[in-house]
Amino acid sequence: MACTIMQLTEHVGAEVRGVDLREPIDADTHAALNRAFVAHHVLVIRDQDYTPENFKTAAQVFGELQQHDKKEHHVPGHPDVYYVANDEIVNGKRIIPGETFHTDHSNHPRPPKATTLFAVQLPSRGGDTQYVSMHRAYDDLPQSMKDRIKDLRAVHVYQSKYSPRSLGKIDAASLQDIPPPGVHPLVRRHPENQRPALYLNPVRIEAIEGMADRDALALIEELMAHATQPRYEYRHRWRHGDMVIWDNRSVMHQANPDYDMAERRYLYRLMLKGTAPIGI
Ligand code: OGA
Ligand code: MN
Repeated sequence: MACTIMQLTEHVGAEVRGVDLREPIDADTHAALNRAFVAHHVLVIRDQDYTPENFKTAAQVFGELQQHDKKEHHVPGHPDVYYVANDEIVNGKRIIPGETFHTDHSNHPRPPKATTLFAVQLPSRGGDTQYVSMHRAYDDLPQSMKDRIKDLRAVHVYQSKYSPRSLGKIDAASLQDIPPPGVHPLVRRHPENQRPALYLNPVRIEAIEGMADRDALALIEELMAHATQPRYEYRHRWRHGDMVIWDNRSVMHQANPDYDMAERRYLYRLMLKGTAPIGI
């Protein structure tokens, strides 16, 4: 199979063409895709055509499926295929999943290594997803900051009382099944590419061990302002047929609510199992 992989920016993202992940792929293609994922952190796999079951097959090229916290929120008839859409309103406010920069499900002791979306319905303009390299952001920190944060560990809960946004509704049964908070290093070493990365998530981080909340929040805010600079970013403009898979150990991401909300944005979503983050 003639599969091509083309880098999109110097720091994040590669585009994959010439592969149909509904079908079994050979060992070389499998290895090449997984190498590209670890090297580029975000893969944009063009021109796919998936049912929910096809999408599961495609995602499993990169790992093992992980269940989502909101078990009740799934594609009808497919309990293990989640979706993101722009149609949930809570207390008069529209919930846009992923609206501020974050990494997925970091409240888990073993957070998902990857998340993938497949575009089913897109607005006629807008609704991009932004990704920032947490490896590059870490590398560029002044040595004094690297020394300061090296051994710090943050407590990630389902939804921090300091979260900048609501995660929307979750039912009692799902809430009951949520694991205990993940306590993770602020700087983690990627288990596959071995690079250090910042590991931040203002939606989930409720405390840093041994710090007053006020100081912890100020530190997170400073690191977030640094990490979300455009120079660390790849901004994905969705096209029909796109499957995008990203490495939650290497990037943060955010959705953009900058389109006409009368238009529907609907994407299938899956996550892949990861391991407990290890410090540097
Ligand atoms: C997610 C997410 C962003 C988007 O699915 O985890 O943050 O642009 N999505 O929909
Ligand atoms: Mn997300």
